[in-house]
Amino acid sequence: MPSESTRILGIETSCDETAAAVVENGRSIRSNIVASQAALHAQYGGVFPEAASRRHIETIYSVVAEALAAAHAGLEAIDAIAVTRGPGLAGSLVVGMNMAKGMALASNLPILGVNHLEAHLYSIWLVEAEPEPKFPLLALIVSGGHTELILMLDHQKYQRLGGTLDDAAGESFDKVARLLGLAYPGGPAIQAAAENGDPTAYKFPRAWLEGTWNFSFSGLKSAVVREVRKRQPELEAGVEAPRPGLPIADIAASFQAAAVEVLVGKTLAAAKDFKAKEILVGGGVSANRPLREAFQAKATLPVRTPPLELCTDNAAMTAAVGHRRFLAGQRDALDMDVLPTWLLDGV
Ligand code: KG4
Ligand code: ZN
Repeated sequence: MPSESTRILGIETSCDETAAAVVENGRSIRSNIVASQAALHAQYGGVFPEAASRRHIETIYSVVAEALAAAHAGLEAIDAIAVTRGPGLAGSLVVGMNMAKGMALASNLPILGVNHLEAHLYSIWLVEAEPEPKFPLLALIVSGGHTELILMLDHQKYQRLGGTLDDAAGESFDKVARLLGLAYPGGPAIQAAAENGDPTAYKFPRAWLEGTWNFSFSGLKSAVVREVRKRQPELEAGVEAPRPGLPIADIAASFQAAAVEVLVGKTLAAAKDFKAKEILVGGGVSANRPLREAFQAKATLPVRTPPLELCTDNAAMTAAVGHRRFLAGQRDALDMDVLPTWLLDGV
């Protein structure tokens, strides 16, 4: 007899997307609604936390209602509510958490707090057409807030190998984009500008941090700042528009090449060292085309990246983790707090 299907409602408000989704059996997306705040934050050149939480408050109800309607599901068809508990902006996390708690209380459904980094990895499980990845996996999470190398031994079993010591990979894309007068979010803007540039035009530094699995991107960003200031000595990051004549395409391409080389190089080395069977790359920066291409060109083992719409923040991946936790019989209490600095580690 086929086992009954399980439907999880996911809610995600860790940063600047208000998102809700319904996922069946941990792999099948029934609905996936994302309300992006990118236009709101573009005027600040980055995420403005107070504005983010207020916008989440205005948007969360309609996003959740839309996710349920699009899945043709009332709450009676839902088995549990999964909500991002951390890491992320405290004021933003609280909005999704309180929405989930209210719904769980009113409908007597179980609530499951989800680690947002783990959710980025589970976006891979939402690619239904592909077989499930094989453990042990080497995972690279590259987003606006994180750059983490993690050994995934099994479901819910993680060993954190290292992470960034300063800027996250996505943060460095955003900062360099701002310096070059490009739009927020900076990752897609840098990628687009770099298409017309020469990635070998500037020899920007690669921070290999030999002997560790850590990353550092602040030196690379400072090298770009120095290059720009050679032409515009008075330029303060983001304060004034870059002058006409600044070789934006070459700088963007050279910066991107340096970031990609280190991310790919260290991930492949870690995968070899820890005898991983596959590599997973998740988080907003995993949408970067040169990064995806470099992985495919250099890896001798399978590298999986989510489809573009699942690279950046969404609630389907939150629901996918919720499904795992639900199956394992885990439940959280209605007085759980958000965990803004929650890293993925431990077995
Ligand atoms: O995972 P995400 O949506 O939010 C966080 O959890 O941080 O990642 C957002 C980050 C931003 O820094 C954005 O610039 C970056 O992902 N990003 C990209 C690309 N698309 C988004 N970075 C490089 N290339 C891209 N195509
Ligand atoms: Zn994220």
